[in-house]
Amino acid sequence: METPSRYTITAALPYTNGPIHIGHLAGVYVPADIYTRFLRMQGRDVAFVCGSDEHGVPITIKAKKEGVSPQDIVDKYHKIIKKSFEDFGISFNNYSRTSAEIHHKTASEFFKKLYDDGKFTEETNQQLYDAEADQFLADRFVVGTCPKCGFEESYGDQCEKCGTSHNAMDLINPKSAITGATPTLKETRHWFLPLDQYESWLKKWILVEHKKDWKPNVYGQVKSWIDDGLRARAVTRDLDWGIPVPVEGGEGKVLYVWFDAPIGYISSTKEWAEETGKDWEPYWKDKNTKLVHFIGKDNIVFHCIIFPAMLKAEGSYNLPENVPANEFLNLEGKKLSTSKNWAVWLHEYLKDFPGQQDVLRYALTANAPETKDNDFTWKDFQARNNNELVAIFGNFINRVLVLTNKYYDGIVPSPNEYSEIDEQVLAELRAYPAVIASSIDRYRFREAQAELMNVARLGNKYLADEEPWKLIKTDEERVKTIMYVALQIASALASLSEPFLPFTAEKLKKMLDYGKSSSEAAASTSDIPSKDSEENEWEKIGQETELLPAGHQIGKAELLFSKIEDEQIQQQLDKLEATKAANEAENKKAEPQKETATFEDFTKMDLRVGTIVEASKMPKTNKLLVLKVDTGIDVRTIVSGIAQSFKPEDIIGRKVTVLVNLAPRKLRGVESEGMILMTENGEGKLVFVNPDEEGVKNGTVIS
Ligand code: 2FM
Ligand code: ZN
Repeated sequence: METPSRYTITAALPYTNGPIHIGHLAGVYVPADIYTRFLRMQGRDVAFVCGSDEHGVPITIKAKKEGVSPQDIVDKYHKIIKKSFEDFGISFNNYSRTSAEIHHKTASEFFKKLYDDGKFTEETNQQLYDAEADQFLADRFVVGTCPKCGFEESYGDQCEKCGTSHNAMDLINPKSAITGATPTLKETRHWFLPLDQYESWLKKWILVEHKKDWKPNVYGQVKSWIDDGLRARAVTRDLDWGIPVPVEGGEGKVLYVWFDAPIGYISSTKEWAEETGKDWEPYWKDKNTKLVHFIGKDNIVFHCIIFPAMLKAEGSYNLPENVPANEFLNLEGKKLSTSKNWAVWLHEYLKDFPGQQDVLRYALTANAPETKDNDFTWKDFQARNNNELVAIFGNFINRVLVLTNKYYDGIVPSPNEYSEIDEQVLAELRAYPAVIASSIDRYRFREAQAELMNVARLGNKYLADEEPWKLIKTDEERVKTIMYVALQIASALASLSEPFLPFTAEKLKKMLDYGKSSSEAAASTSDIPSKDSEENEWEKIGQETELLPAGHQIGKAELLFSKIEDEQIQQQLDKLEATKAANEAENKKAEPQKETATFEDFTKMDLRVGTIVEASKMPKTNKLLVLKVDTGIDVRTIVSGIAQSFKPEDIIGRKVTVLVNLAPRKLRGVESEGMILMTENGEGKLVFVNPDEEGVKNGTVIS
């Protein structure tokens, strides 16, 4: 696309079932914010929209657990999340919520249009049902083994381990997340988006047109989904929390959360337009608008396949130009987890590091999981702050301001003739805006920020080489030129750091009395989209030598960054240690006793001693073994999810306990005729039932 007339930038709507943590910030919101702030600085017309994702099963599960209503849950977290975004300078034009009336209306109308245009198929089929809870089990209401990678705690809609999106019915050994019961099947009628019909169009649109410009991790994931073959996906659910299905037969049903959530981008834009007297439609329908979705990798299928197919089906909307999804951030070597409290929560960070939002933004960008999963460690965070922000950026700025105030009462001196070094340094400085812009344009924010730090390095080195503090005694005229040049670098830093370190940029601009503050920039560009109508600070650095003129009065030096001490880091590590200990204690608790079983119930189960006579790995899974077991009655096939605990060759000849009259079921196409009883040892490793086995504790469930 040639220079777009406007941009619509979306950041994934966070679920309101908990506060947000560093993983959210690193993966989605900081990159989206850097991109948007950069565009605004170029005078571009941008709508940066987001909002809370308030439907979906995790919210109802949380509400049930806490004995409150789903509305209570979303109200609580919407407030906390919104505040965290504001605190960290995520500069949305609008932050809405999917419980807003405008969203219900927009999503309902969107569904109705597709329905009226015959874009859905209708199917009655069997779905998992929890009789005890009297509820159908869709999405996160059901957990079981992922049919693709064998992960045993996969959700019904998506496996958190391998990222595959599936239907709840695909899970092996499904269990209700509400009661723990094994679900039964019950008939229900739903509307489906026939993704298979969009396959050839998607192939052309993504696999051909976007082969070069989409990130390899995104392109690769999309390609593998398309290569696997797309299937129709239900866009309605039997739930009572969500947007009611607005057509006949939709009573008691709601829109699937992943149908309504991305439409939230549209309703958030509408809400913003209403509040600011704009027209929302060009932001979604004008062909010269560039639509970019910032998301984490678990959202790729929804933003690259399902939502585009919905937009295509509707017919009047633009499709995303790019979906620069990030991989995951880990914390101290472990996957971030809201439920296990393995996280650095933003609101807690601010209590421990008040006013240091930019330090976290910086550390997260420096380590952003752009091409692979990455690890956040507190030691790295400390090093980024102390060795880079304090020692390079802060040190340079502090020297420039302190010396200018000391030698010239804060008035920018007039330079004399430039030396070769001055010329070289200024030429180098002029090259940076284009270099940083090019990285941002290609969604390489780590690289862009590293270049920004190189500007500070350039300034630091220049002062260290020229030593104005020594020369002042022998060559006052030369010092004027050095300080003048250093002040130009400092001003450039104030502008170039704005997308990455907005609080620092603001402070620095105030100290130098230079440029527009970010809030002024946002206000002026939202009404004046023309690129040339305003002075462009970014471009100016690339073109002119003089940013701060001689005679300009600057303010007093204030510290931009301060050293983070070992004790502060230790405190954070201790906090994580405590979480780890609490989680381990929780895992050790015996599960509560199940409901009473009658003697008849018990005698129904036919348990036999058997011997494993053959064992092999199930192809393409990590967890399943295909066993042949001599039960004394016959030699039969049993598929067992124990591949991660046992090598096939080690268990041939083992005596095991077998439930022989379990209804046969097919697992990955192989019929399994029974179940081997297993339990866990103290480390959570599966072992065959033998209570004398090393480490097996009283109370461990046999299943
Ligand atoms: O994964 C999540 O947190 C989802 N709530 C993201 C939704 S993005 C959207 F709105 F499409
Ligand atoms: Zn999986």
